[in-house]
Amino acid sequence: MSPDELKALVRTIPDFPKPGIQFRDITTLLIDGRGFAAAVDALVELARPYGADLIAGIEARGFIFSGPVARALGAGLLPVRKPGKLPGPRIGVDYALEYGTDRLEIHEGACVPGHRVLLVDDLIATGGTASATIRLLRESGATVPAALFVIDLPDLGGADLLREQGVEPHALMA
Ligand code: PRP
Ligand code: ADE
Repeated sequence: MSPDELKALVRTIPDFPKPGIQFRDITTLLIDGRGFAAAVDALVELARPYGADLIAGIEARGFIFSGPVARALGAGLLPVRKPGKLPGPRIGVDYALEYGTDRLEIHEGACVPGHRVLLVDDLIATGGTASATIRLLRESGATVPAALFVIDLPDLGGADLLREQGVEPHALMA
């Protein structure tokens, strides 16, 4: 499937969840078997050269892509979760969204010095979510060389923010 065909599977819904937001809806890509496979396969090929031990997937939409990518690479999957979900001792970070604020957490000890971790999410907008997650992973001593997204919204500056943090951003479409 060509990059243009893949992009055509994502629809834009204006003014969701707030006026002024152009919401990029991936559900239309997910229900297309060829499209979903093409997106996962492309993310796997971008990830492979980094030789990651762990793929960090961000709740919720990030889980959809991070699981299949981790499985294809034979890497572990680190779920990065919203508050109130993890049962054990945890560490967390607060962050700002394009439309609100939130917090993300991982279990203490899930990620340790020496781990090579790649971040996977469906979309990068302001970069607040990815950047906060990278801070959290690095606090645990992990190396985070790159972050992979299905969609980049470059006008919102997220990819540039990650480059400033020393993380290489990759996306399948803008
Ligand atoms: C969306 C998206 C990214 C984040 C990107 O998640 O899946 O994680 O926003 O925005 P940013 O680059 O401005 O931080 P959302 O918090 O809406 O949660 P969801 O995955 O549960 O839908
Ligand atoms: N998350 C943050 N901004 C978004 C957007 N414009 N579309 C879909 N998900 C998003």
